[in-house]
Amino acid sequence: MSQDTTAASAATSNTGDALENLLHENRRFPPSADFAAHAVIQAGEYEEAAADRPAFWAKQARGLLSWHKDFTETLDWSNPPFAKWFGDGQLNAAYNALDRHVENGLGERVAIYFEGEPGDTRTYTYAQLTEEVKKAANAFESLGVVKGDRVAVYLPMIPEAVITLLACARIGAVHSVVFGGFSADALRSRIDDAEAKLVVTADGTYRRGKPSALKPAVDAALTAPGHTVGHVVVVKRNGENVDWIEGRDLWWDDSVGAASAEHTAVGHDAEHPLFILYTSGTTGRPKGILHTTGGYLTQAAYTHKAVFDLHPETDVYWCTADVGWVTGHTYVAYAPLINGATQLIYEGTPDSPHQGRWWELIEKYKVSILYTAPTAIRTCMKWGREIPSKYDLSSIRVLGSVGEPINPEAWMWYRDVIGANAGGNGEKKENPAPIVDTWWQTETGAQMIAPLPGVTATKPGSAQTPLPGIAVDVVDEMGESVPNGSGGYLVIREPWPAMLRGIWGDEQRYKDTYWSRFDSMYFAGDGAKFDDDGDVWLLGRVDDVMNVSGHRLSTTEIESALVSHPSVAEAAVVGAADETTGQTVVAFVILRGSAVDDPDIVTTLRNHVGKEIGPIAKPKTILVVPELPKTRSGKIMRRLLKDVAEGRDVGDASTLADNSVMQQIADSLKK
Ligand code: WT7
Repeated sequence: MSQDTTAASAATSNTGDALENLLHENRRFPPSADFAAHAVIQAGEYEEAAADRPAFWAKQARGLLSWHKDFTETLDWSNPPFAKWFGDGQLNAAYNALDRHVENGLGERVAIYFEGEPGDTRTYTYAQLTEEVKKAANAFESLGVVKGDRVAVYLPMIPEAVITLLACARIGAVHSVVFGGFSADALRSRIDDAEAKLVVTADGTYRRGKPSALKPAVDAALTAPGHTVGHVVVVKRNGENVDWIEGRDLWWDDSVGAASAEHTAVGHDAEHPLFILYTSGTTGRPKGILHTTGGYLTQAAYTHKAVFDLHPETDVYWCTADVGWVTGHTYVAYAPLINGATQLIYEGTPDSPHQGRWWELIEKYKVSILYTAPTAIRTCMKWGREIPSKYDLSSIRVLGSVGEPINPEAWMWYRDVIGANAGGNGEKKENPAPIVDTWWQTETGAQMIAPLPGVTATKPGSAQTPLPGIAVDVVDEMGESVPNGSGGYLVIREPWPAMLRGIWGDEQRYKDTYWSRFDSMYFAGDGAKFDDDGDVWLLGRVDDVMNVSGHRLSTTEIESALVSHPSVAEAAVVGAADETTGQTVVAFVILRGSAVDDPDIVTTLRNHVGKEIGPIAKPKTILVVPELPKTRSGKIMRRLLKDVAEGRDVGDASTLADNSVMQQIADSLKK
């Protein structure tokens, strides 16, 4: 690890003095007596879990899930870092999410309220959703998908996304969702890596009032021969014309719609793969994070119940994440349904057709638990508090945050404007809804650090406490625990049920990425600090991963995309701090030959990145420079470029091979 990627420099360059202020944050918001009295989890849970961690998780696994075959061994950690949780048990994820609730008399409870961006609505009870999933399971099986096969999913945020995931899980097929904002090229590389047999997609979706296509990207991805895909199932969502390949393409309505609604769920091994989800790392190639069934579902269900204080009989839960990200897997497709909750799914953007859309939805469906990202909160802050204040948000009981650090200012706004709204008439609740800031990752599968809303006195800006049964620490370069107040690397000391089981097809990379930095500890890639109360503060990534609007992007991946363009000789990408989106992508490029005089080069390169990776990865700013700052060993000093991108004086440049480079860059940017 080079000197410009240490936790300390990440901390200073991300937040600087602001961080020092954060660590002296002394506002505390204990739960109200009433909330605490009715909370599903009480304080004793921490001690119980600490006393015998495996026993605690075994109790959750049996209490929250129904097993086709009970397990006898809770954790096998004899071959680290390869864990087996509940290894000899068997269960079915879809049965747990659906059938058993119907068998238990909850068939008429609403599972999903769906609201499309244009305002169309659908409601699925647990009985209806079970039927749809059984049909989809039969349809996929009739297309030759068998247990262990991979299914690529490229869908918008519509009920069919959840139905597809659960249908795959039901038959033991492994889903691999690719976010709709990724390009055809990115989709193809993920299809190839997982060797997917089936693709489930839609003609398109709606974005800001207009139809937006999806199927053309699938067609483009499958144009070149040599892929493994036999069939493409297409949901008709926006009704736009699509190209069609007879024999390969099938409409959802013709395949799933025509399938039988009889399907028996069999038990799969607890360690049977449930899904692959690709995420960006420190190299150019995305990693297929592998999750398995029993442990993942246990921690998903437990955290969803504990952290959101879920009362499934009365709560209406809404997680705004897209199914293309891990939050949309764990906290939309799986946990809420496993827990028998009623949830809202919304297809569109928060500002369509007006900036009050989310709050209108909360009022309409009486949402009581809202789970969203800081970037969304900051966007709403920018639009103004008078917008949410017009709506009746009094149903809200718990507010969640995920994806990036939430700054205290946004935290306080969330509490005051959303959590304290007592009916849209300007009145405030005496006891605003508690805020739970949840830290976790694609790799951790489920929440790891978060307050418990009926127990913890919450603190603006801090994710605070490892959840019961989770052991995190902050260590220095040598892997030694650091004292409270000192920055370091966030690690996880003990295996946890929802932990990734590997990187698809690359055992070595799994070991190297997460388990080689420190002996016997999982290296998360985040900088962190404990404050004087022992609460955890997350300080941002210490590696080459950026966080833009809660979306994870790799600097190296975008650099690779840029240099794959013939006009680019070299590129360096940094994440620059941004008030709303957390970070934005800023690229520094050295051009080749005639491109130097091309006035459209910036647009060309932005579009090129859009094509290679997807619109979400397009650099906001591209700066053409004559040189890049490098160490004597040839490593680009991104820290210095970050100083430039964030408009700061350039820091210590003494290790540069050629220390006139920063001056050259400054001169060229002045032009
Ligand atoms: C990275 C993981 C967790 C689902 C969505 C993102 C950052 C996530 C927080 C938080 C500070 C956070 C970390 C982490 N992150 N939640 N509450 N406070 N940082 O999953 O795409 O795998 O990204 O997001 O840097 O490593 P992901």
